Amino acid sequence: MISFDKDKMIFHLKSNNTSYIFGFLKEKFLVHLYWGKKLEFNDLDYDMFLDVMKYRRNMCASDYKDIALSRDCLPMEYSTFGNTDQRTPAFHATYKNGSFITELEYDSHVIYNGKKEINGLPATYVENEDEAQTLELTLKDSLTDLKIVLIYTVYDELDAITRSVKIINNSKDDVRLDSVLSAVIDFKEAQYDYIHLPGAWARERHPERVPVMTGKQMVDSARGNSSAQHNPFFALVEKNTDENSGNAYGFNLVYSGNFTAGVEVDPYNTCRAFLGINPFGFEWILKNGEEFASPEAVLVYSDKGLGGMSRIYHKLYRTRLCRGKFRDKERYVLINNWEATYFNFDEEKILNIARKASQVGVELLVLDDGWFGKRNSDNCSLGDWYVNKGKLPGGLTQLASKVNELGMKFGLWFEPEMVSPDSDCYRAHPDWCIHSEGRIRSEGRNQLVLDLSRQDVCDYIYNCLYENLSTVNIEYVKWDYNRTMSNIGSALLPAERQGEFFHRYILGLYSILEKITKAFPDVLFESCSSGGARFDPGMLFYMPQTWTSDDTDALERIYIQYGTSMCYPYSAMGAHVSIVPNHQVGRTTPVQTRGYTAMVGQFGYELDLNKLTDAEIDVVKEQIKTYKKYGEVFHKGELYRLVTPDNNYFCSNEFVSEDRNTIIVSNFVLRAVPNSPVYYLKLKGLESDGVYMDEKTGKSYRGEILMSSGIPYQLSADYDTKIIVFKKQ
Ligand code: GLA
Repeated sequence: MISFDKDKMIFHLKSNNTSYIFGFLKEKFLVHLYWGKKLEFNDLDYDMFLDVMKYRRNMCASDYKDIALSRDCLPMEYSTFGNTDQRTPAFHATYKNGSFITELEYDSHVIYNGKKEINGLPATYVENEDEAQTLELTLKDSLTDLKIVLIYTVYDELDAITRSVKIINNSKDDVRLDSVLSAVIDFKEAQYDYIHLPGAWARERHPERVPVMTGKQMVDSARGNSSAQHNPFFALVEKNTDENSGNAYGFNLVYSGNFTAGVEVDPYNTCRAFLGINPFGFEWILKNGEEFASPEAVLVYSDKGLGGMSRIYHKLYRTRLCRGKFRDKERYVLINNWEATYFNFDEEKILNIARKASQVGVELLVLDDGWFGKRNSDNCSLGDWYVNKGKLPGGLTQLASKVNELGMKFGLWFEPEMVSPDSDCYRAHPDWCIHSEGRIRSEGRNQLVLDLSRQDVCDYIYNCLYENLSTVNIEYVKWDYNRTMSNIGSALLPAERQGEFFHRYILGLYSILEKITKAFPDVLFESCSSGGARFDPGMLFYMPQTWTSDDTDALERIYIQYGTSMCYPYSAMGAHVSIVPNHQVGRTTPVQTRGYTAMVGQFGYELDLNKLTDAEIDVVKEQIKTYKKYGEVFHKGELYRLVTPDNNYFCSNEFVSEDRNTIIVSNFVLRAVPNSPVYYLKLKGLESDGVYMDEKTGKSYRGEILMSSGIPYQLSADYDTKIIVFKKQ
């Protein structure tokens, strides 16, 4: 619900448990007043904020000769560069006369039910108008006629707030946008910890928690993709906030390209959080009459700790970000040939893998890299999306139909955004890749990135995909992206627009994804980027799942999946059982362990099942049955991280089904200790007076006992993994 107090000019955005309040101080300065636990009354005023300024001396500048008033000391709702606010600006533009000053004031506002799409960009949505309300607040700079529309949506039940901005150039001159962040939020204090998700290839999203300090702390990407190194997510939490209690504020950007995400603490111990497209490497010329839309920031507040924050993100993303036929459906148990064969396969080898897989209950065979052009290693053929007849003489059609005859669906790997220098595509169109004249075209994994800021390149990619998807019975696509961008430049963009390249690339990518997923609604798309280097909400809007990491080692996966679960649901995480010793880290874990670790995500196998012993195959059969039975609880249920893996001994996750009748506790021993102490796992989210039966032992317990006294747990052996299922009686 959104209300507006006309006299005080205050907007109050209210969801089930959260309030977000801001308004016009002295009818001029748009200041942020509050974000946190829901406030019932609308009697917040500006006085408190003005009072604190009395004790500030030597302010760098004041507004309108009012020495007690400086934007630099005010919590600004959308800060602009070039005035008295000298902290990180949300907005920075350069005007025709070289001035970069923007001064905003109230223009108009409208409040309506529902939520509009953001043109060309992914965003959360509503299914019916009553679920959310939107405020569009238009600010104007009267000197330049530039308008900035701040767009806020409040999801009542889902308890989230989204923000984005639209810039409208009403002046007769071009304006160069230098920075358009999606949100800044000024917190009155700075006693917070900053949690973010740094990583690397095969080690993505390992949470790091550090105290917020004076100055700036931020993560960003200037690599062209959201990246494995950083994720467009961070949380601000109070010192005592843990998994279950305390205030947690989450920030996540629905964007797959360069971003900035951080906080700035000023000398007065206020803390500005900021999130948006990375201003570094960004410029955009906005012509008269044109508009520019920022990506959406998803803001989540919870007083139930990190767990509460994560659960809000999970539900919102699963139900109002992911789209399409597969959003709510159980997806296919798949087998992927990558680690089983790498590039070295032919039809018979693939069918051999498929045959065994079909016998144990696998539903989809995914043919990974190497099926096209002359590709026998990673040094050629990207861009040549026609079948390699040397390996598959009968073509994809024959292979797909043989796989179908086994009762399985057929899926295919593409890396559409790339081109190999050794390819027909590159030989015909050497200017189609990202490059800058006279500079080296540096290769990553022997490949270059296609220039998706060009319409002709986007059309080429779409047509290649369309051709394959419309002629072969392909029911799943793995969309890969295996290097970061470098030597930035586009052959088509004029010199003054080269700074638009990164964002134009992402818009090009999104336009292809929108078109191809709409054209093939029955195809399940999975995003991938050397594993999880583009695990972000932007990609999840088009493809409901992402390959979480190239690291399939069960132990490492526990950490990666933990970090990923900070804001992304398990339903979005591709997770497979692979061969041991593990190809990434050389570790050997039992097949049971690998299975339980993977089945909480979108489950599959990435090995040749023919190489498993009969006993292991029996375990695999059981795993698939268990997954079929409980997959929905892992994916649609609520996650409670009972014990997080950062203790390095064990990890325990609890899933509570949507109807709250099935409770699954999944435990993983990270490092066994001899003569283990007994730990008690205190369950969450049960009914105190409900009775829950342990499915295996048949024993029943009262909810309050399970939650208060807990269930005993010992660190039996390294990597020992178990699930315990309780059914409400
Ligand atoms: C990336 C992916 C892998 C696999 C290879 C193929 O690394 O993350 O799963 O598809 O590419 O080249």
